[in-house]
Amino acid sequence: MFTVLLLSLVAIIFIYQSYKYVFHRPAGFPPGPPRLPFFGSYLFLLLVNYKYLHKAALSLSKWYKSDIIGLYVGKFRVAVVHNGEGVREILNNQSYDGRPGLFLSKMRDPGDCVRGIFFQEGLLWKEQRRFILRYLRDFGFGRRFDQLEMVINEEITDMIDLIRSGPRYEHEHLLVKPGGYRIQLPMFFNPFSANSHFSIVYNERIPRAEMGKLVKLVNLGIQFQRNADDYGRLLSIMPWIRHIWPETSGYNKLNESNLYIYKYFAEFVDRHIDSYDECCERNFLDLYITEMKKGLPKEYGFNREQFIMGLIDFSFPAFTAIGVQLSLIVQYLMLYPEVAKRIQREIDEVVGSGRLPTLEDRQKMPYTEATIRENLRIETLVPSDVPHKALEDTELMGYHIPKDTIVLPSLYAMHLDKRMWKDPENFRPERFLDDDGKLCLKKDVSLPFGAGKRLCAGETFARNMLFLMTTAMLQSFDYTLAPGDSLPDLAKNHNGLIISPPDFWVQLKER
Ligand code: HEM
Repeated sequence: MFTVLLLSLVAIIFIYQSYKYVFHRPAGFPPGPPRLPFFGSYLFLLLVNYKYLHKAALSLSKWYKSDIIGLYVGKFRVAVVHNGEGVREILNNQSYDGRPGLFLSKMRDPGDCVRGIFFQEGLLWKEQRRFILRYLRDFGFGRRFDQLEMVINEEITDMIDLIRSGPRYEHEHLLVKPGGYRIQLPMFFNPFSANSHFSIVYNERIPRAEMGKLVKLVNLGIQFQRNADDYGRLLSIMPWIRHIWPETSGYNKLNESNLYIYKYFAEFVDRHIDSYDECCERNFLDLYITEMKKGLPKEYGFNREQFIMGLIDFSFPAFTAIGVQLSLIVQYLMLYPEVAKRIQREIDEVVGSGRLPTLEDRQKMPYTEATIRENLRIETLVPSDVPHKALEDTELMGYHIPKDTIVLPSLYAMHLDKRMWKDPENFRPERFLDDDGKLCLKKDVSLPFGAGKRLCAGETFARNMLFLMTTAMLQSFDYTLAPGDSLPDLAKNHNGLIISPPDFWVQLKER
């Protein structure tokens, strides 16, 4: 009898604890799906839309009739926000400027201690971001700078030559088919965008003949972007599954990318440290080494490992994100040939055919600029933003957000919100023009680069590159379909850390 009573009591306690685990939420936490053992609510996201988790979160938001939902991803508490007001509040309130310690961020660093910029927070993040941005500016990053524009011009000239003449070196076969005029996306633009960025950072450019390692870097960079997701995949919930399913969990691919990228930049850094001469400042890297030698407090993070990771974070989007966004632009130019024609008319009027477009031309080409902005809105490259984290207990949209909650401002939902855009599903560059056809920045309330203190550090560089490369291509070429090709299918685009088109070869025709 006593045993039966005891077992019943244990069973009741077990059922009560399980119930509490599944349905309990901190007081005032936003509504959302229940929490399953191990997975939390991540499984529900996968069930709703395993391919696009940002769309799954938006569907749940509609289901719960709330623009903010609360989830558990494994042990992590998460709040996802789906309206413009909430997104802006997260981005502009410094209480949300933390970054969660997801396994994805830890596994990038061989020392297993999170460094760099993207996944850093606090004093170290502030000091490193401030220092890098302050001194990269001297070399043209984030502003108009003739010398840099000349370098970009030369890179674009090389790129166009590669299209016309076809591959000259082994590694170029990954970018262009023999005979030329057929390019691989989303790889193609990245080595040239990376090289433009490297000229800012190292004052060096890698010649076409020696781009083999750079092309591999681009390839593995895109592999990393594609093999993660908004929450760091199941790996952030159960990091141990990498030992059981290293391939299916994405671990092998992420790890392969991490190791190669780290080695690539460590070699650069070590070469500069070894040949450093305090009497001769060669580039930005030397400025950083000088700072390392000052013996600043440890918390500022001026050491070799942080140097490598900071450099990776400031370069990674230059050799992945820019080329991917350009490829998304190409998809739309192919789907909307009338838009491409109108940009070409603008190029013909403002630039002509005797020289490449420059940033000086940009102000005079409002339709082109509006098209790029519309693409950044409708194909939000980073749909859930880079995850933020609450640094203290806060209130958000009337809900209680406890310290350490991961906070995701859904840029995707904001960019496709009918309440803000009336016809968000239509690709319509004109939405950013006034009645006289001039660019009206007030109408562009999209935030593809985030906002606030965590604003994308490369926004100006990225916008400049998108303009220069899009116009240089359309000045010389039409995007066409070769026999057997079909128009891009946007539903096939990959969702990873960023959205990216599946690998495809595009046919170009001389205009
Ligand atoms: C089309 C291209 C790009 C897009 C759409 C983009 C978008 C973004 C977004 C949404 C964030 C997260 C902001 C936040 O945390 O709220 C971000 C962060 C960042 N981006 Fe970009 N980015 C692009 C290109 C670049 C480039 C070219 C660079 C540098 C060369 C760059 C460097 C960074 C860095 C360092 C951060 C981390 C900022 C921090 O955590 O403080 N990005 N970017």
